[in-house]
Amino acid sequence: MTANPLAPGWLVVPTDANALAPTVWSRSAKRSASGVLSIADLDVDALVAEYGTPVYVVDEADARDRALEIRESFDREFARVGSSAKVYYAGKAFLTTEVARWMIAAGLNIDVCSGGELAVVLAAGVDPARLGLHGNNKSFAEIDRAVGVGIGAIVLDSLVEIERVADAAARHGRVQPVRLRINSGVHASTHEYLATAREDQKFGIPLADAADAVANIRSHDSLRFLGLHSHIGSQIFESDGFAEAARRLFALHAELLADGDVPELNLGGGFGIAYTSVDVALPLDELARRFADIVSDAAAALGVPVPIVAIEPGRAIIGPSTTTIYEVGTIKDVQVTVAEPAEELAGDQAPTAIRKYVSVDGGMSDNIRPALYGADYSARLASRVSGAEPALVRVAGKHCESGDIVVHAEYLPGDVQPGDLLAVPATGAYCWSLANNYNYLGRPPVVAVRNGQARLLIRRETEDDLLSRDTGVEKS
Ligand SMILES: Cc1ncc(COP(=O)(O)O)c(C=O)c1O
Repeated sequence: MTANPLAPGWLVVPTDANALAPTVWSRSAKRSASGVLSIADLDVDALVAEYGTPVYVVDEADARDRALEIRESFDREFARVGSSAKVYYAGKAFLTTEVARWMIAAGLNIDVCSGGELAVVLAAGVDPARLGLHGNNKSFAEIDRAVGVGIGAIVLDSLVEIERVADAAARHGRVQPVRLRINSGVHASTHEYLATAREDQKFGIPLADAADAVANIRSHDSLRFLGLHSHIGSQIFESDGFAEAARRLFALHAELLADGDVPELNLGGGFGIAYTSVDVALPLDELARRFADIVSDAAAALGVPVPIVAIEPGRAIIGPSTTTIYEVGTIKDVQVTVAEPAEELAGDQAPTAIRKYVSVDGGMSDNIRPALYGADYSARLASRVSGAEPALVRVAGKHCESGDIVVHAEYLPGDVQPGDLLAVPATGAYCWSLANNYNYLGRPPVVAVRNGQARLLIRRETEDDLLSRDTGVEKS
């Protein structure tokens, strides 16, 4: 079959439109004998019979194993260069009490960036010493609660926060460990990074102002300076952006050692994952090896000890674990003009092709990333396999918004029909956590599957939930 001219250049016509690319799907995803998609040895049609659609299905072993692998890889590689590493799970990617417990069990710490995320991890019984708090505009109440419970680290994001956190710590009679977030001027996304003297964004303080800020931090008895912090972006596939940020931070790190202790350096998160079969993510052990080399080379160049390195991955741990299952509701074959013809071609002479719009029972309320960032995803029929010739589809949601797209472009068996279950893999990160109630859709449940067993982590939001805050609703 030839490619549909409406397909993006990177999307190849699959030889088998039922195949599950192992780099994209959670590790236990496979086809059962009947052709149904199964995750952790549970057929998704059985899961749907119990939990409905849409539903987020989390492959628990996948998430726990990736957490363990990243922690062990960084431990091993930083031991090789004579230091150690601290891995924080970035809770913003996907946080429930149970996910928090998995991360702690794998030996990770957890990063939160709001009072709400802090409440979730405290409700999970996590030791506050294993937490870090981020945020460019933490409220006084958030700072006070974090300091009061004994949070392990606060990432200071602005000069005014130095005084706010110092005051809160003094009031609580604590010495609060803090990091200082630096706007390094390095911003990376996917394969490229941009390095400027000053990046135009809201996070952190400029490198040039950092030495004075650290002197200020050190002047407070209620604060302990842990080190510098930088986060250069998300969905990054190469390590050169991290290397550039590390070099920039390291010059300052070395300078700061002249006046006191700087035990740690935090290089943030942002490690990329495969959303489609053409994405190639760095294996976690290779990433750890490169980070250890980057940091030890930078330390050697300046003749300073290799610090403890902290990292904050979210997506790389939880992203591949989750698959969203939808039911197909309507299908339209839309005839689309392929491209502007060089010269005006009248009416039916203009070249056209068919884009099949497959609409599912969720959309931008359960996965806003395609609408928000133009993010690409992939999809497969979940309730059956089919030998029908592949057709180019666009998976759309059910919201009143033409930008409500779940998968911009994918080839599915051309006989896809209403009632089919459709699976979208790699929805673990920034899907449930960014879920919303647009058009008053209830947010889907989160179901963890492991060894043939399913457990509900978050129940489906009901119509009563949706109406519960509206004071005009008559109570019976
Ligand atoms: C400061 C910080 N750390 C870590 C992360 C996690 O990024 P990722 O989930 O891409 O690893 C983010 C994401 O936005 C972030 O802002």
